[in-house]
Amino acid sequence: KQKEEFRKVLISWYLREKRDLPWRRTSDPYHIWVSEVMLQQTRVETVISYFERFIDKYPTVFDLATANEEELLKVWEGLGYYSRVRNLQSGVKEVAANYGGIVPSTRGEISKLKGVGPYTAGAVLSIAYNIPEHAVDGNVMRVLSRILLIEDDIAQPKNRKIFEEVVMELIDKEDPSSFNQGMMELGALICTPKPKCLLCPVQQFCGAFHEGKQEELPVKLKK
Ligand code: ADE
Repeated sequence: KQKEEFRKVLISWYLREKRDLPWRRTSDPYHIWVSEVMLQQTRVETVISYFERFIDKYPTVFDLATANEEELLKVWEGLGYYSRVRNLQSGVKEVAANYGGIVPSTRGEISKLKGVGPYTAGAVLSIAYNIPEHAVDGNVMRVLSRILLIEDDIAQPKNRKIFEEVVMELIDKEDPSSFNQGMMELGALICTPKPKCLLCPVQQFCGAFHEGKQEELPVKLKK
C-alpha cells in the first residue's frame, strides 16, 4: 500500500533529519501552543530565542494567565502582531479558569479558545497529545498540492477544507505528531517554493515530480 509506505518514509526521514528546536524538546501542550502562535507570524530562527525567553518568564498556563499585560507586550516586542499575544493570553486565561490549567485535548473544546484556529488546534492536538488531527498551513498545502497533484487555489480560504480532508486520509494514526511535523519540516527544508526534489525523501510518491510540474504547484492566485 502506497499510503503506508509514504507514512513510513516521511516519518523515518523526519526522525533522522529534524532540526533540534526548543519546542521539539517538550510535549507540554501550552508550550506547543505558544510556539505555534509565534511561528504563524515569524520565521523559525527568530522565534527560537523569543520562545525560550517567553517560557522562562511564563512557564505555566497560570503564569501567563496572571501576567501583567504591559510586561507581556514587552516580552513579545519584536515579534509584532500584538493581537496574537493578546488572544493567546485570553485563551490561556480560559484554560486556567475553565479547564483547571489543562489545555483541552479535543478539537471541539480547544477550538473554542480565543485565537485557536483550525491550524493551531490541529498542531497542538497532534504534536502535544499525539492525536490524529490535521494541521494544515500554507507550507503543508504546498507539499500536499505537489504530492497529490491538487490544483485548487491555496489562496482561496474555502479550499483549505479540501486539503484537511485529504491529509486525514494520509495521516499516520500511530504517530500523528511525527507525521504532521514531518510534513511541516518537508515544506520548510525541501518542498520549498523552489523545491529541492533531488534531496526529497518522498520523491517517489510525488505526482508533481513525476509530471515535472513541481514549479507550477501549488496554484496560488492573487487575492
Ligand atoms: N512552523 C509551524 N509549526 C512549526 C513547528 N512545529 N516546527 C517548525 N516549524 C513550524
